[in-house]
Amino acid sequence: MVGAGISTSSGIPDFRSPGSGLYDNLQKYNLPHPTDIFELDYFMDNPKPFFTLAKELYPGHYIPSPAHYFIRLLHDKKLLTRHYTQNIDCLERLAGIPEEKLVEAHGTFHTNHCVDCNKFYTKEWMKEKIFGDVLPVCEECNGIVKPDIVFFGENMPDHFYTKPLEDFDDCDLLIIMGTSLEVYPFASLVANVKPNCIRVLINRVAIDKFSGRDKKRDITFLGDCDDAVWQMADVLGWTNELKDLWKRESSLFEQAREKSDNNADQEAKSPRISKNNSR
Ligand code: OAD
Ligand code: ZN
Repeated sequence: MVGAGISTSSGIPDFRSPGSGLYDNLQKYNLPHPTDIFELDYFMDNPKPFFTLAKELYPGHYIPSPAHYFIRLLHDKKLLTRHYTQNIDCLERLAGIPEEKLVEAHGTFHTNHCVDCNKFYTKEWMKEKIFGDVLPVCEECNGIVKPDIVFFGENMPDHFYTKPLEDFDDCDLLIIMGTSLEVYPFASLVANVKPNCIRVLINRVAIDKFSGRDKKRDITFLGDCDDAVWQMADVLGWTNELKDLWKRESSLFEQAREKSDNNADQEAKSPRISKNNSR
């Protein structure tokens, strides 16, 4: 189970870290409350702040972190039952975790629908609108077209409710990374595992709701997700595999990105790999 903390080393801010988190940096949008940017009612009245932010955060600029590739490695080794994410940055997909292994609990930029008639629009269609600073309006009914990100006030995707029934009973290790566990119902999943399942929380700061819940089987690693996965890889004897996978894939993304920047002949930000990631 993961949150925004697995993507901060890729250059994407989390939501609630004081100072650097997204909710402390939305002044330019003049929102009555920072979370309004993801409130459905607010969006229906004033969708512009969301689309301005969407342009900044749109998948394509960022490269998955070592933490993402560690999860990919778990999958490659047939150890991953499922990856439950609150993130909407699509970095899990980019890291090669297949769709059937993913529960994107807060939705995705991958697909889009009209909020009125529910007509489907592709991500290429939406990207053109967002980067052209054009409000995406439905070609059928003039309704607003919205990426399938779960806003406050919207239902979670169906698989958020069905997959835990398949997964949590058999889970023998629950890794929770980079999340404040502030948002429900996602946070409530930690209680779905059986009493003998070990739960490991990896986070920069302690999370009161988790720490000390059950001292016999709960472990907290206070620190960065990337440091934690490198340490886990080390004890598992996977360091070289993780390093090779991460370096190989990152350089492919960089090459692809440079090519598209050159082709587009535009001033786009280069993909970023934080210094923290290097080993
Ligand atoms: P938060 O910003 O609430 O929490 C992120 C947590 O990750 C914080 O506790 C940070 O200290 C920690 N953190 C940041 N960088 C880290 C790193 N490199 N290593 C380890 N820990 C790190 O983000 P989420 O829990 O993901 O919902 O937020 C949940 C939901 O709230 C989001 O999905 C979003 C938001 O409103 C919607 O958009 C619907
Ligand atoms: Zn429509």
